Parts: sequence; structure tokens; C-alpha cells
Amino acid sequence: MLDQLKDQPADKILSLMAAFRADPRPAKIDLGVGVYKDAEGRTPVMRAVREAEKRIWEGETTKTYTALAGDPAFADALVPLVLGDSVPRANVAAVATPGGTGAVRQGFELIRLMAPLATIWVPDPTWPNHLSILKHLGMPVRTYRYFDAATLGVDVDGMLADLAGVQPGDAVLLHGCCHNPTGADPDAETWGKVAALLRDRGAFPFIDLAYLGFGDSLEADAAATRMIAAAGECLIAASCSKNFGIYRERTGLLMAVAGDEAVAKVAQGNLAHLNRQNFSFPPDHGARVVSTILGDEGLRADWAAELEEIRAGMLSLREMLAAELRRLTNSDRFDFLTRHKGMFSRLGATPEQVEAMRRDHGIYMVGDSRINVAGLNARTVPVLAQAMVAAGL
Ligand code: LMR
Repeated sequence: MLDQLKDQPADKILSLMAAFRADPRPAKIDLGVGVYKDAEGRTPVMRAVREAEKRIWEGETTKTYTALAGDPAFADALVPLVLGDSVPRANVAAVATPGGTGAVRQGFELIRLMAPLATIWVPDPTWPNHLSILKHLGMPVRTYRYFDAATLGVDVDGMLADLAGVQPGDAVLLHGCCHNPTGADPDAETWGKVAALLRDRGAFPFIDLAYLGFGDSLEADAAATRMIAAAGECLIAASCSKNFGIYRERTGLLMAVAGDEAVAKVAQGNLAHLNRQNFSFPPDHGARVVSTILGDEGLRADWAAELEEIRAGMLSLREMLAAELRRLTNSDRFDFLTRHKGMFSRLGATPEQVEAMRRDHGIYMVGDSRINVAGLNARTVPVLAQAMVAAGL
């Protein structure tokens, strides 16, 4: 039987991690996978996480199962962080999932359960794993224009024109903030138009929110999600991997925002059922860390402060890189770097230029020229800028 299996296509982001590790050049630079790194290249355990883990270790008396939806304290802590008071809490069904990817997967499965023939619209481009999971589930997919290769910003007209063609009952995947892989986010006015358009078309928005707090602030990064949730039913896949730095703990939450409490109750049952089918109980440790932090005033303030340090650090790397490129090229054509949000920027390089930067300078970025800004530091910013110019960008 097993000899019937064929090789699966390699995940482009994860195979880049392996290629980087295998490169013997000491000066190599990793701008691949979306993991935050400090100036020394470390992915630190956040201070509040360490303290919360200590408290959990001291206070935990059992490892028995929680609930299919996870410990309710986790949802009760994370739902308000994401949604504020945009919708009544009772209208929100929520289950813990293994990471943001788990929430995305469960969200697609819930859509399939509600509407087996629904088309899922995804931005072009999107996180490659969205497409891979949808293919695995056999769900119909269409893309909508999103990125303008000329301005390296959002193609607002193309996006709105394509979304005007969405059919009632179709689902539309949106990146709530810090679009992966481009870094280009719609402005507030465009978000307003998207929310109204989707409501008028009878479409079902599904928001992937993996980088809350990495763009402008915790509040500002949640604004688009809240606006869409306030406009009607939607799904939200929230990840705690990046903003709490707990990647390996697999901590995510899938939220279904319903129009009333009764519908939310049925959605809650369906989400718990899906968890049971796929993995039974979701991981608990990361979720408990998050609810411990958000439920304690001091830990919460310290976490928010460290998240802000991380965000500000990435912003200053963006500014340094744009300034260096301005100096080298005597032009402002790389200023888009300071307009992009979050961890990623798509540079607009061709696959050949990406390959040249890897071959000649040991700089690793995803093949579509997505860089992880957090992989840079004061020493490597000029190296990347020079490599970009040498590659002919
Ligand atoms: C990324 O896009 O690099 C991250 O979301 C990590 C991943 O799982 O691909």
C-alpha cells in the first residue's frame, strides 16, 4: 500500500528553512520563515510568557482533559482582545485550535459543512498554505486581485472589482492585518468598502488574523476585523504564535460571529464537533499561558509593552532599509518598505534576482521575494540593500 504514495510538493517556506540550515557560509542571512528574531537572531520567550509558565507550573494540579472547545478562559480572554465591543460576546462561538493554521483548517471545514459547494475566494497572492489546505479539502477556490506589482501596494480597484463578482454564499478569505506575503494592507476607507461590498453580496467573510499587534498597534490592527464583524456574520482565525511568541505551543482560536445568540450556540456545537473529528481536545499549554497573561493586569501590561518593542524594532528596520536604498539608488522607489505593515514585505524581485541574492550573498528569502523584516539587523540591512541593487532591483 505505502508504495502507492507519491511525493508531495515541498512547502516553499519550510524547505527554505532547511536550505538555509544546510548553507555553510557563516555570513548567510535568513529572511525566510515568519518567525520574529531579535538583533542577535534569537527568537526569545517573552517575559510575560515565562512568568505565566512559572505560575501555571506552580498552580496546575491536573492534566486531565479540558473541553472540546478548549479551556473557556482562553476564548473569554482572546475574543475581547480581537473583537473589542464590536459584537456581543454571546453572539461569538469560539474554539481553541492547534495554532492559527488549525483555526484556518477548521474554518474551511465549517464552511464546507454549511455550504458544501461554496467557492472560497482568496487574495492573489495569499499564504501558500491557504491554497494547499483548500486543495487538500477539495474546495472550489477563486482568487481576487490584491497586489499591484507596479506600486507594491494594494490593487484597490482590482480588489473591489473582483469582489463585486462574489456570489451569495461564497466565502471570502481576508488577511485582517499585515498581509502575508506582501505586507501591503488596505487603508481604512478600502476596508469600509470591502465590508459593505461583502455584506451587500451576501458573502461570508473569513478573516485570517495571524499578526495582530505587528502592524500599527493591537487596537489599530484589529480595526478591520471589528468593522467586518460588526457588519454581519463572519469567521476569524486568530493565531497567538507571533504576538505571544509561542510558535511551538500551537495556540489558535477560531471564532464564528453569528447574528444572534441562538445561532452562535449551534455554531459552537459544530465547532466542538469538528475539533472532536480532527483531533479531539486542542492543545492547552499555550492557551493557558495566553489566558493567564491577559487575565492579569501586570502581565498583560508587560506583554503589551514587549510586543510594542518588537513592533517598533521591525518598523525601525524597515526605515533603515528604505533609507539605505534611498542612499544607494538616489531614489525613493523603495519607500514602499515603510508603508508595508508587519513582518513581511514583498520586494518585487524576479525569481532569478531572488536566486542571485541567495547564490552571491547568502540571503535567503521566499521565491516570490517576500522578506521577513525581523530577520534583519543593523549589520545586515546594508548587506541586503547592496545585494538588491547588485541584483538589479
Ligand atoms: C510564514 O508564512 O512564514 C509563517 O506563517 C510560518 C508558516 O507556517 O509558513
